[in-house]
Amino acid sequence: MISGKTKITGIFGDPIEHTLSPLLHNSAFRELGLDYCYIPFLVKAERLKEAVEAIRALNLIGVNITVPHKEAVIPYLDEIKEEAKYIEAVNTILNSNGKLIGFNTDVYGFINSIFEEGVTVKGSNILLLGAGGAAKAVAFGILKEGGNLFLFNRTLSKAYKLKETFQKLGSIEIIKKITPDIMRNFQIVVNATSLGLRGNDPMPLEPTLLSRDHVYIDLIYNETPLLKEAKKFGCKTIDGSGMLIWQAAKAFEIWTGKAAPLQMMKKIFKEKKTIDKNI
Ligand code: ATR
Repeated sequence: MISGKTKITGIFGDPIEHTLSPLLHNSAFRELGLDYCYIPFLVKAERLKEAVEAIRALNLIGVNITVPHKEAVIPYLDEIKEEAKYIEAVNTILNSNGKLIGFNTDVYGFINSIFEEGVTVKGSNILLLGAGGAAKAVAFGILKEGGNLFLFNRTLSKAYKLKETFQKLGSIEIIKKITPDIMRNFQIVVNATSLGLRGNDPMPLEPTLLSRDHVYIDLIYNETPLLKEAKKFGCKTIDGSGMLIWQAAKAFEIWTGKAAPLQMMKKIFKEKKTIDKNI
């Protein structure tokens, strides 16, 4: 029940109708008996500044930021956390007594989702495919945790740009061409390209390059052809659903000061995925 005391959070994006975040957060608030609610806001690019000002004006606790505003929102905030500065993207804002603080909880989401699967990052050689927004969150997490990063991207100049910014955090090497020989150096392969989002996408790696010695991680939360193929080799695979839950959990913690009910959020997400598949 919404009352005069209910604390309001939400999400700004365009489009917004497919977001799963209201389901996750509102279920989590209810589970812990917190008087909070989470609302989707359709925010057009040309009104983003006004929408951010409204966080203060309406005394919202905070919001998530999604496509296409994650980068554009940065100039309107009062403080940007280190990870969000590196990634040049904010996905969570906290309204701290009128001061708007920008976070990127995808980093935390990625790292926790692979730690809970028993993946070791420190000292591992990790091949990262992609150099866009999602890849930057992965790169930050891996380097902060002491992994050795090997970066491959279709557009080489973007890979070099990422290296230039991130190399102060740790070890990054650019891979210009992926060969079976090079693949033998890696323990972990992460797909942070958008390949696999659409049913007829090609795989981000030739199937002949796959090996049973690798762990395969995909940021896409449905099982992609890459993960399906990797499973045939008996490899450990991790899809992006854990990252989605953990990034939401971190935003929840930032807004409420409480640990999120993770198991419940995972269950809700799994049920929703099953329902959507059956429609
Ligand atoms: P996101 O925010 O999801 O990371 P993005 O910033 O647009 O999205 O990045 C998409 C990534 O997928 C990029 O690394 C992109 O490669 P380019 O930098 O060469 O564009 C990669 N990608 C998208 N389509 C691709 C394709 N058909 N083949 C290879 N890589 C692709």
